[in-house]
Amino acid sequence: MIQVTRLGRHFAARITGVDLSKPLDDDTFEQVRKAFFDNEVVVFPGQKLTPAQQIAFTQRFGTLEHHVRKEAQLADHPEIFILSNKLNANGKAIGAQDAGRFWHSDLSYKTQPSLLSALYAVEIPVKDGKPLGDTHFASTTAAYAALPEAMKQKLASLKNIHSYRDYRLKNYAAQQEDERRGIRTVQEHAPTPEQLASVPDMATPVVRVHPVTGRKGLFVNEGHTSHMYGMPEAEGDALLRQLYDHIIQPEFIYSHHWAPGDLLMWDNVAVQHKATFDYDPLPRLLYRTTVRGPAVADSMVLQ
Ligand SMILES: [Fe+2]
Repeated sequence: MIQVTRLGRHFAARITGVDLSKPLDDDTFEQVRKAFFDNEVVVFPGQKLTPAQQIAFTQRFGTLEHHVRKEAQLADHPEIFILSNKLNANGKAIGAQDAGRFWHSDLSYKTQPSLLSALYAVEIPVKDGKPLGDTHFASTTAAYAALPEAMKQKLASLKNIHSYRDYRLKNYAAQQEDERRGIRTVQEHAPTPEQLASVPDMATPVVRVHPVTGRKGLFVNEGHTSHMYGMPEAEGDALLRQLYDHIIQPEFIYSHHWAPGDLLMWDNVAVQHKATFDYDPLPRLLYRTTVRGPAVADSMVLQ
């Protein structure tokens, strides 16, 4: 029997009493699955997982993605996306360092956005006894539920554009700006024309019904949303800013302080997240697997 302890006000929980390095029987897996979708973010502390074991557990939730950034994939395990500020022997980044600079939901720009992500902490920086590099999560379902009825009605028919191209260019520009200001960054590979062209823009409903729980949430995020669809730019940008600010109010946030051995999973439909860059040059290494979700109802490919 697993133990589930709520961590945040509206969401997030710790799950103990399960060893994810071993295959789970169907009953235990169903308990884990239910606790995960009920709580939107769950952490399994103290796990000892090989990449193959992380892959075996997370792929029980669905098909695993191979990230478009092949340079950040783990050798022999393309399902694992490396998040790290470490360099290889040639001085190149071994993974993505600055993923998560903006509030976002993983792969929300894809025709089939991610259902969930799992991040396994291999190496966590510590300073003065405190872990650095917290990850913040915000529940878009709790944020939606708290909206005034008139706003819910206004949003019901609106779409926003999720754009991988705009995101990569924005992220890269922000990193170049850091470099100019003298902030050390592990040099991210410049987005290639092939990468930018490989993912078309998507027009996606602002209010998304969760494919598993049926809960409604706000499917807009400052990392991947480029603009509102079919709305004058200034009006659309003001609405997006209002929604972003609403979603990241303290009552909708859970901040995770990492420990090595944590396997943290989050629901990319129900929450969005943001990284903290307070640790460099202390080394940090995490392995991510990402489960593909269904296409978003009423979404459209734009290119
Ligand atoms: Fe992310």
